[in-house]
Amino acid sequence: MRVAIIGTGYVGLTTGVCLAFMGHTVSCLDSDEAKIKALREGKIPIYEPFLEEVFHEALPQLNFTSSYSEAIPEAEVVFIAVGTPPTPSGAPNLEYLSQAAKSIGQHITRDFVVVVNKSTVPIGSGNWVDSLLREAIAGRTDKSGTLGFAVASNPEFLREGSALHDSLYPDRIVIGADEPRALEVLYSLYRPIVDQTFTPPNYLPRPETVGAVPLLSTDLASAELIKYAANAFLALKISFINEIGLVAERVGANIGEVGRGIGLDSRIGPRFLSAGIGWGGSCFGKDTAALIATAGEYGLHLPIVEAAKKINSRQRDRVVEKLLNELKILKGRTVGLLGLAFKPNTDDLREAPAIEIAQKLIDRGVRVKAHDPIAMEKFEQSYGKMGVVLCQSAEQVVEDCDAVVLVTEWNDYRDLDWEALAKKMRSALILDGRHTLDKDKLMRAGMRYVSIS
Ligand SMILES: NC(=O)c1ccc[n+]([C@@H]2O[C@H](COP(=O)([O-])OP(=O)(O)OC[C@H]3O[C@@H](n4cnc5c(N)ncnc54)[C@H](O)[C@@H]3O)[C@@H](O)[C@H]2O)c1
Repeated sequence: MRVAIIGTGYVGLTTGVCLAFMGHTVSCLDSDEAKIKALREGKIPIYEPFLEEVFHEALPQLNFTSSYSEAIPEAEVVFIAVGTPPTPSGAPNLEYLSQAAKSIGQHITRDFVVVVNKSTVPIGSGNWVDSLLREAIAGRTDKSGTLGFAVASNPEFLREGSALHDSLYPDRIVIGADEPRALEVLYSLYRPIVDQTFTPPNYLPRPETVGAVPLLSTDLASAELIKYAANAFLALKISFINEIGLVAERVGANIGEVGRGIGLDSRIGPRFLSAGIGWGGSCFGKDTAALIATAGEYGLHLPIVEAAKKINSRQRDRVVEKLLNELKILKGRTVGLLGLAFKPNTDDLREAPAIEIAQKLIDRGVRVKAHDPIAMEKFEQSYGKMGVVLCQSAEQVVEDCDAVVLVTEWNDYRDLDWEALAKKMRSALILDGRHTLDKDKLMRAGMRYVSIS
């Protein structure tokens, strides 16, 4: 099939590359011309494991452009995958979505096109995009024949850091539309993934447990709500274990063991039960805020989701409290941060805990040093003026530090030579923000080990 993807960020580029890998002909469109230029030159603007490999295999099926008149007329399916960043009220900024919908409407030429919201958008956005498309089509002078379309919702559940794996072997695909023909088109599009009939790349083999992928087709509003509800649930699972962590700390229980103990219950499941400094990233904060804002429009309060957000923000304060507790005075101290990206295997810094923690420490007169295996260049571009001293290695970070905080659980940090590092520090204190380091090993290496539980 012929597909256009509007927005070539983490979601749009991954989707485009995977659909092209399935044999579809895909035009990836972005208003950022520098991004398109880079992609045309074969340069991937984001760090995502295996994206480059799949990109190169799928290249004959891919086209990159900034021109709607080039991407839209031939497309049978148009995905909107533009950003929907938060506004101060919590409601997402839908400006990019609106621009994309209008531009699509100005360039549709086929008699039936499925326009798919893949961006995470508030409930009701499907209807809104439908009306924007109609308006744009009505305003055209070049109408010929019937310009038909249907709007669908296809929420994205990929996780940055394993986006390619998640797109090729998803837990489920959700498609929502009020028009049955749109659901049929999307089913055909996703068929190789649903039936798992494609030949897997040898660097991303199909897990033995993966069979046919459940495809859930719903009405528009349900698909839109599924996305918000899924993210809110994952966010509150993390906040739940962090709340239990507070109790664990007081009563002398081990939160790691508590998390494992409850996660072995198949009704609960083991994932998202690691206590620590809480979630970050471009989705959980934004999507929980958007869900609360949408509920507010209907006069509803969502106390559970609100509490999850509050607990998450408290976890960042707890980093400062813990350091204060151990070091007594923060002013004039040097603290090293290991990890800047919001999670391992990505260079994404949106709502990264490291940024909030660094700012809180700087505000208290702390000199902050940091290292990240991948995200330092992006950090320098966006947060270069914050005053964080970037270091080329973990060894450089710890030098003369009064404490070091493990912020992002990159594998690289698990097997450091902690004995050598302890000797370089002014005081050998480690605050494990992710419950990921081997406490006994660190203590044997001469480190004072503290964690956020
Ligand atoms: N990143 C994730 O892990 C993830 C996961 C699931 C869902 N989502 C959702 O997917 C959407 C996209 O997220 P992302 O992380 O890929 O965003 P992103 O910021 O990485 O990419 C968005 C892209 O859209 C482009 N763009 C903006 N307006 C445009 C327009 N009018 N025409 C063409 N291009 C335009 C931007 O230049 C940018 O390259 C968001 O709604 C997000 O909530 C993201």
